[in-house]
Amino acid sequence: MCGIIGYAGPRNAQNVLVDALRRMEYRGYDSAGIAVWTEEGLLWRKKAGKLSNLEAELAQHPVAAAHLGIGHTRWATHGAPTDVNAHPHLSADGRVALIHNGIIENFASLRAELESAGVAFASQTDSEVAAQLIARELGTGAGLAEAMRTVSRRLEGTFTLVAMDAHDPDVLVASRRNSPLVVGVGEGEMFVASDVAAFIEFTREAVEMGQDVVVEVTADTWKVTDFAGNPVEGKPYHVDWDLSAAEKGGYDWFMRKEIYEQPQAVADTLLGRFDADRQLTLDEIRISASELRTIDKIVIVACGTAYYAGLVAKYAIEHWTRIPCEVEIASEFRYRDPIVTSRTLVVTISQSGETADTLMAVRYAREQGAKVIAICNTNGSTIPRESDAVIYTHAGPEIGVASTKGFLTQITACYLLGLFLAQERGTKFGDEVASVMAELETMPAKIQEVLDGTDDLLKLARDLHRVESVLFLGRHAGYPVALEGALKLKEIAYLHAEGFPAGELKHGPIALVEEGIPVFVVVPPQGRDQLHDKVISNIQEVRARGARTIVLAEEGDEEVQPYADKLIRLPRASTLLQPLLATVPLQIFACEVATLLGHDVDQPRNLAKSVTVE
Ligand code: F6R
Repeated sequence: MCGIIGYAGPRNAQNVLVDALRRMEYRGYDSAGIAVWTEEGLLWRKKAGKLSNLEAELAQHPVAAAHLGIGHTRWATHGAPTDVNAHPHLSADGRVALIHNGIIENFASLRAELESAGVAFASQTDSEVAAQLIARELGTGAGLAEAMRTVSRRLEGTFTLVAMDAHDPDVLVASRRNSPLVVGVGEGEMFVASDVAAFIEFTREAVEMGQDVVVEVTADTWKVTDFAGNPVEGKPYHVDWDLSAAEKGGYDWFMRKEIYEQPQAVADTLLGRFDADRQLTLDEIRISASELRTIDKIVIVACGTAYYAGLVAKYAIEHWTRIPCEVEIASEFRYRDPIVTSRTLVVTISQSGETADTLMAVRYAREQGAKVIAICNTNGSTIPRESDAVIYTHAGPEIGVASTKGFLTQITACYLLGLFLAQERGTKFGDEVASVMAELETMPAKIQEVLDGTDDLLKLARDLHRVESVLFLGRHAGYPVALEGALKLKEIAYLHAEGFPAGELKHGPIALVEEGIPVFVVVPPQGRDQLHDKVISNIQEVRARGARTIVLAEEGDEEVQPYADKLIRLPRASTLLQPLLATVPLQIFACEVATLLGHDVDQPRNLAKSVTVE
């Protein structure tokens, strides 16, 4: 999830681009760059690190005044956050400069094709293939828009691309598939951007782009076609958000925006994981198949929400691989003298990749000779750098301190790891792996379904926001969901909230149940009948003691109806994958309660996004 801006108009392009990047820094901040058109050719500056590094570079070495340019702030997916991997990418002949947001799934085969034709690549990014391919098309005499269409047809995955041609002083061309792109229409100037925050200071007139389109802009004109070149209508609209709302995509909080981004984030985690033979591949795993076959124990180590993702993962990984899997809070791990050998696979989960407790666990595990795989959202951060392998979640930056899309994408990456191990060790047949993958691929649409039906939850939050205490119950993979639901409410609403395994309640915590206390219960799908029936008994236990039951159950589960004071329906999913759906209403509930209580949802008291002390 990167920030993208293109400008054509009378102002000094460098200033417009840097201003726009500053307003989009929340979209990605591990490197930034700009390129502008000049008579001497395309000029560019790019720097790893925060935008301030690029600004310092431009202060020392400004680019010449120009009226056409592109800029990018990066959230790395392929290739570490370095100067060379920063965008814009230049084609080897220097004719094309290009910026990209998204993931080009088939970049490896396209790169091999270009390299065998003698094209030299400068970076490790997937994006550079698009610049090189466009240059090759221009070399055959195509115009920039035509070249962009031809190349877009060949790309798989998600992308917004913006390119300019050293031979054409007036035109920027952008292309989009499943990744945001909006055109800003000023007076005698035009913008293309990943969101309106980039240009809101200059114009509030925008044009919405459809799916699979190419748009060609000059300072005065914009023209949209599909990838075949047929004209397509853009939808003009007026932006009435202020800058802060624009940055949050119109939401009141980054956290709410990130909750709503989850269908895309989970889809991005799943993207590009199959090779041409439909074998699950995790490119970032640098541990050999024979080493993976010798593993006799998995230990998942993480903190907070990431630890709960690990608890979900345990159910799936043990079931699919039959390897014993422990889950450990990172800050406890190395102090208990854990049994870790060269046959132990340690899996760390960390959104930030900088959590000190988790990092210390990585170092300890490697000292003991274990292999370490990191599941992480932040490319180039310390934990993946110090691990033997990494699976990136590709969720894009998470700004809200309370983790939401981080959690769902961590669970998704854990499923991928479990399936990969099952495939490599032969504990699941290829068709069995494929069938779980097929179900996983339906999850983004189902998460969207949950997000589309939140009116009742908002009303529930209004009814309940003054309560003092809330309990959450679940069993099996629903138990970590209960823990996560409680943690969200503690973190941002500052309410007393506890999550329990539903069966454990009677061993003590049921004493907390008093008249009117809200109890959320995650009910497993009906296929697991014993599990399902046991949870229904647990609901009855708390209801008999006066609890107000809020029951999350799949569509068609009529058995729960009589015991639910409030029923929240979930789309159908298998037991192991249900956490991807059941968590979402709990996130929305917590976000709404905290909002109603007047708290700062994005920066809750006493908390930091990245906890770099032990
Ligand atoms: C909860 C939350 C924290 C983090 C934990 C680990 O909403 O955000 O509990 O999950 O501090 O952080 P990472 O994943 O960055 O290691």
